[in-house]
Amino acid sequence: MEEMDTPSELNEVVLPQTVVGPLTRAAIFLVLCIRPAEAGENATARLRAFCADLSGLIRAVEFRDVEAGLTCVAGFGSDAWDKLFGAPRPAELHPFQEIRSGARHAVSTPGDILFHIRAKRMDLCFELATQIMASIGDVVSVADEVHGFRYFDDRDVIGFVDGTENPRGDAAREAAIVGGEDPAFAGGSYVIVQKYLHDLNAWNALPIEMQERIIGRRKLSDVELSDADKPSYAHNALTNIEENGRQLQILRDNMPFGRPGHGEFGTYFIGYSRTPRITEIMLHNMFVGRPPGNYDRLLDFSRAVTGSLFFVPSATFLDTVTAVPLAAAENAQAPSLESPSPAPLPTPVAANDTSLRIGSLKGENDE
Ligand code: HEM
Repeated sequence: MEEMDTPSELNEVVLPQTVVGPLTRAAIFLVLCIRPAEAGENATARLRAFCADLSGLIRAVEFRDVEAGLTCVAGFGSDAWDKLFGAPRPAELHPFQEIRSGARHAVSTPGDILFHIRAKRMDLCFELATQIMASIGDVVSVADEVHGFRYFDDRDVIGFVDGTENPRGDAAREAAIVGGEDPAFAGGSYVIVQKYLHDLNAWNALPIEMQERIIGRRKLSDVELSDADKPSYAHNALTNIEENGRQLQILRDNMPFGRPGHGEFGTYFIGYSRTPRITEIMLHNMFVGRPPGNYDRLLDFSRAVTGSLFFVPSATFLDTVTAVPLAAAENAQAPSLESPSPAPLPTPVAANDTSLRIGSLKGENDE
């Protein structure tokens, strides 16, 4: 594979956040909005300082049980990026675009900062979320908080194993981590989250064979339906995207959640990708259909009640935030993609990690 995708002058090591990792038994999804500044308050400076402290905070909680594998990924929405970091901006960062088609609606809901906290034990996730809120709770409001759990053998609450076709290892890094196509933000990732609520009674009233046709896999064995048995509207057909003969993948870590006492049963969808374009195509196929009208029947039983897009800068980027005078960011104008203003932040460098030396998704560097 050619190395032209990673500029040769960018040879310092950049550490991504823990986007790529094993699926865990527990997760907390915390979506926060930056509160409008009140007199004398300096939310931006507080949040920038917090960014630099985050890795230390994670280590402090993680070390209480290293075996539990606590990780935390922080992502920033388009408006929040301008407020906190100014220019340069990640090339493809924009607000989540809603989709309306027939009775289906992929809503776009507020969200400035996402924390995706994962561990084998919920108590560690809970402790880190508590520490995060203790640190910045007075300058943010909570848009959404979901505590997810792994259900039996990695199933979602509709009873199907979820995550089987996720890319693993190098393929996961290639799918999720920005490389040389945006050198200033190499090591980062884009993440889209959506909270889905299921009409579980209606779903469970369907014959299993029909459920299997909707998902595109067998329910008990998790084996994929044959091409002859799989309808073109199957979930795993519509989310299978190819470009120039290559499958374009995203890295998912969906989690079931719910409150049976309230009749609430949900799936928290989270998809990381080195470009949001892939997840957006999948969403278009699901909600509008491929071709239009041939939509994902899962959406007859599942409703998206949130939708947000975030950029996950590298861990190295977050660690360097304090290196900049905070006043520079306070005074930074919101830049536009077309004419970026001078950078108030030191530019993070692309990783020298060979795992990031990957062909562009646009295909120009394919061998
Ligand atoms: C109600 C929410 C959702 C549920 C319950 C759900 C469930 C599932 C299940 C059971 C599978 C098959 C097993 C697997 O390969 O993981 C699957 C596959 C997949 N889903 Fe979803 N999903 C949901 C939403 C989404 C969304 C919003 C996207 C993308 C925007 C997505 C993308 C994918 C992809 C890429 C695959 C693998 C397809 C392949 O076989 O190549 N899913 N999903």
